[in-house]
Amino acid sequence: MSIFDSFYAKLQAKYVLIFILTGTAALYFVYDNLLIASDILLNARPSVKPRVNEAHNGWTSILGCPLPEVDPWEPEDIKFVGKPPDKIKECNIVKNATSMLENGNLWVNLTGNSENTSCSYRCLNYKSDNAASPGAWIPYKEPGPAKVICDWVDVECKEGKTTEYRQIHSQIYTSEASNLTRHRYNVYILGLDAISHSQFHRTMPKTAYFLENEMNGINFKHLSKVGYNSVPNQMAALFGQKFTTVRHAPQGYPLFNMSNPYFCKRKHSKDEQYIGFVYNDLGFQTAHIDDMLPLVQVYPNCQGFGFAHTNHSTVPLSAAMKDKQFKKAVLNDSCKEEFHLSVEFFEAYIKAKTPEAKFAFTMLTGPGHDKLDDPYRYDDYFYRWLRKIRNDIDDAFLLVWSDHGHHFGPFYPTNHGQTDTRNAMLTVVLPKKLRETPLHPVVQNLRQNSITLVSQYDMFPTLLDLATADFYSSDSFTKQLTLQNYQKLNNRIREVHGDSLLRPLTHRTPTCAGLGIPFIFCLCRWPLFTPKDEAELKKVVINDLPPVLNAFIKSIGAEDECEQYKVNEKKAIEVYEVATNLVNPTSRMIRSKFSITAYNGKLPFHLQVFFELTTNGTVSLAGRIHRYDTGWASGRCRVDEYEQHFCYCKSPPKKCKGR
Ligand SMILES: *[C@@H]1O[C@H](CO)[C@@H](O)[C@H](O)[C@H]1NC(C)=O
Ligand SMILES: *[C@@H]1O[C@H](CO)[C@@H](O)[C@H](O)[C@H]1NC(C)=O
Ligand SMILES: *[C@@H]1O[C@H](CO)[C@@H](O)[C@H](O)[C@H]1NC(C)=O
Ligand SMILES: *[C@@H]1O[C@H](CO)[C@@H](O)[C@H](O)[C@H]1NC(C)=O
Ligand SMILES: *[C@@H]1O[C@H](CO)[C@@H](O)[C@H](O)[C@H]1NC(C)=O
Ligand SMILES: *[C@@H]1O[C@H](CO)[C@@H](O)[C@H](O)[C@H]1NC(C)=O
Ligand SMILES: *[C@@H]1O[C@H](CO)[C@@H](O)[C@H](O)[C@H]1NC(C)=O
Ligand SMILES: *[C@@H]1O[C@H](CO)[C@@H](O)[C@H](O)[C@H]1NC(C)=O
Repeated sequence: MSIFDSFYAKLQAKYVLIFILTGTAALYFVYDNLLIASDILLNARPSVKPRVNEAHNGWTSILGCPLPEVDPWEPEDIKFVGKPPDKIKECNIVKNATSMLENGNLWVNLTGNSENTSCSYRCLNYKSDNAASPGAWIPYKEPGPAKVICDWVDVECKEGKTTEYRQIHSQIYTSEASNLTRHRYNVYILGLDAISHSQFHRTMPKTAYFLENEMNGINFKHLSKVGYNSVPNQMAALFGQKFTTVRHAPQGYPLFNMSNPYFCKRKHSKDEQYIGFVYNDLGFQTAHIDDMLPLVQVYPNCQGFGFAHTNHSTVPLSAAMKDKQFKKAVLNDSCKEEFHLSVEFFEAYIKAKTPEAKFAFTMLTGPGHDKLDDPYRYDDYFYRWLRKIRNDIDDAFLLVWSDHGHHFGPFYPTNHGQTDTRNAMLTVVLPKKLRETPLHPVVQNLRQNSITLVSQYDMFPTLLDLATADFYSSDSFTKQLTLQNYQKLNNRIREVHGDSLLRPLTHRTPTCAGLGIPFIFCLCRWPLFTPKDEAELKKVVINDLPPVLNAFIKSIGAEDECEQYKVNEKKAIEVYEVATNLVNPTSRMIRSKFSITAYNGKLPFHLQVFFELTTNGTVSLAGRIHRYDTGWASGRCRVDEYEQHFCYCKSPPKKCKGR
């Protein structure tokens, strides 16, 4: 893929799994097997009946949490995760910028252009979370400058009908209307979509070094994702709610539905417990900085807010990319990718002297979403950029964060890939004053919490705490806040599913069951092994699993829409046992991968299903079906996201409607 991925390619890659398993799949399977823990001694009986005489030493309860040991430089993973490029392709700027936006003044240099060239400019105004409204073109009058009163300005110079010059500039425009009385630290999130903890350290070592060593950033080692992709994880941080449904789980794990029942079905309202509104309520200015459309709350065909939900936004930039000529001029011809322009805007926001404190949610997909080795190319850029702005964040918390790890392609189904995809990244850089006070309770708590299991549900309460806590009083951070406390701080809050990372987490059980993390997305890793009764278990998969899957389809009244499950016995069937003690001590946890028949063999190669097997042979699902290769694409005849994963629609999959 070229440096300049097309907008649509990115869009597809971000949310639609484009990975189609081919003949190489077999190879990955072999590889996957090699990684399976083989040091567990046991004597499983050659039957699915109760286990006897098994060595359970080292087995951990399913209600416990064996934290994974990760090695970002694991030699065996290199064939999947790639290496630093030998050399980064050079790019020649076709036309240097001869226009400039400084302190609200736009300068356009016509030097070198013909006498007949005339320039004009327009504001790209922010209208909603999926649309911008460009203002009228205004002729640029020599010798300038022109006063610009908007965040985004589009500049064009034409000779006759031919565009000679096009450029985009950004600033943070604020009408100086209010006087600030209350001081708060600024809160900035720099989000790097799909870059896991390991991947960040492997591919962006300079950036990680700078954050962790020069800025004393506190790096969280065990941040678990709570859902499959961007939506449930980013939305958990932004709304503090559950945007995933769990109707099957191991015994002892919670079952739950999306806690915002209207998500995607109707527009978010102004009363939502959205973090941007919370910050606005508390007197902050807000920015949502992204490098593509749709924004997470509008994906895939969701309604979003339908209005401008933050004070500043990159929506006008992303919306303008539909104009091919604009896109070529501001990206290709300028040797930039869209995220570079977003970072420039973020920098302007960080540097803006606003009367209010500032909050920014930045989420960049360009640097690392598509390919595991992409971020190598941007490490130096982010390193230099952070060095450049280091003094501008003295009065800010900077959270460098990701929503989840890579979730498609050949690395994803491997054992290491499965750990990696669940292990999101978080490094907290403190305001200078706190950086220099290592004994401050906030610093101590963050350090303590950085080595325990935390989840994306902790982001929202942490952001709330950052906006409201009294950092000058040392006993502010001795105990956790309750829902009632949060509601007193902001009356939009209706539900909170995690805890503030600024406070002790000693009151809770640091396990996936304890933190409400769905089992199939849980970072805790129990070893797998090949049981002695593997052959019998394969028969269970063939004979007993499909009726359970079909019964669920029936229970949701979808048997007319979805194909019946039948295991394809000609394709590989894989079974592993999970070395874990279940709530019912005689039950066993099995991970199976298999193919199904339907669609005349056109169906994806394999599914993964975890299930519990009781002594009498009863199968119960431990989570939803995991479709490595297709995501929702073939389940679109169902509305409910959870059901989509279970359903292969009989009619050809409905095309994504776009917007
Ligand atoms: C752009 O500016 C750089 C540095 O001043 C110069 O080396 C380069 O030749 C210029 N490119 C064009 C196309 O004018
Ligand atoms: C405009 O031209 C002048 C004179 O050549 C030069 O000094 C200045 O840097 C130029 N400004 C921009 C934005 O290119
Ligand atoms: C500018 O436009 C005028 C009128 O169309 C034309 O006569 C003249 O040749 C043009 N000058 C240049 C340098 O193109
Ligand atoms: C802000 O404060 C200044 C100086 O105290 C005062 O002159 C000005 O009117 C205030 N502006 C607003 C909008 O309150
Ligand atoms: C989730 O929603 C389904 C369908 O409305 C309902 O049957 C089920 O009881 C709900 N589960 C929980 C845990 O609330
Ligand atoms: C930011 O947006 C909020 C909500 O729309 C609004 O109340 C507030 O005045 C805005 N602040 C600024 C500085 O524009
Ligand atoms: C941008 O540049 C790349 C590489 O030079 C090229 O492959 C691509 O087609 C260009 N895109 C556009 C929109 O011009
Ligand atoms: C098998 O055991 C499960 C729970 O242990 C029980 O719910 C189920 O009814 C049993 N099935 C049969 C056929 O005995």
